[in-house]
Amino acid sequence: MKLLELIQNRNSIRKYDSKEIGEQDLQDILEAGRLAPSWQNKQCWQYVVVQDKELIRNLALKSGMISKTNFFIKDAPVVIVACADPDKSGHMNGNDYYLVDVGISFQQMMLVAAEKGIGTCWLGAFNEKKVKKILNIPEKIKIVALSPFGYPAQKQGIYAKAVKMFAGSKKRKPLAEIVHYDKW
Ligand SMILES: Cc1cc2nc3c(=O)[nH]c(=O)nc-3n(C[C@H](O)[C@H](O)[C@H](O)COP(=O)(O)O)c2cc1C
Repeated sequence: MKLLELIQNRNSIRKYDSKEIGEQDLQDILEAGRLAPSWQNKQCWQYVVVQDKELIRNLALKSGMISKTNFFIKDAPVVIVACADPDKSGHMNGNDYYLVDVGISFQQMMLVAAEKGIGTCWLGAFNEKKVKKILNIPEKIKIVALSPFGYPAQKQGIYAKAVKMFAGSKKRKPLAEIVHYDKW
């Protein structure tokens, strides 16, 4: 599949099959993250690849900001927690570039996953303190996002449909609303 076509077809998955991800596929996904560009090529990212079923269940139960909003990750065979050491990235014009570094790297991983038919869902709403405690993540490290990685369940279920409807996930602004040619 061409990259643009892959991007057009990707969407967040909120119900997973428990089928395992092949080791080579997982390594390819991680490699895509490793090769991302970053501030002064400092590669501030650190990834925690969670495959232990008990830990995934714990994250499903406890990582949500409000109640059990992340409970749907429970069946995914892998959850990757995307972290950064902010000291290994830049800060300019009020921007913390560790967020950009990890954003690019994690999205590259998600696109390679999509190419393999493996679903993901970027999770920005999480309780950082609880996730750090469950996974022994050091204090000075920031968690940028987490995502389940797994094959989509046959049917997406009510929760997945409700979130998509609430977020208007299928909609994107037209180019005319977001692009300025030559001057704003
Ligand atoms: C920074 C960021 C944070 C997000 N946080 C959450 C989240 O906490 N929970 C969730 O279910 N989806 C989350 N999403 C997924 C978005 O809701 C989703 O990407 C958007 O609705 C577009 O839908 P699509 O990914 O299916 O195209 C997040 C996405 C981004 C980029």
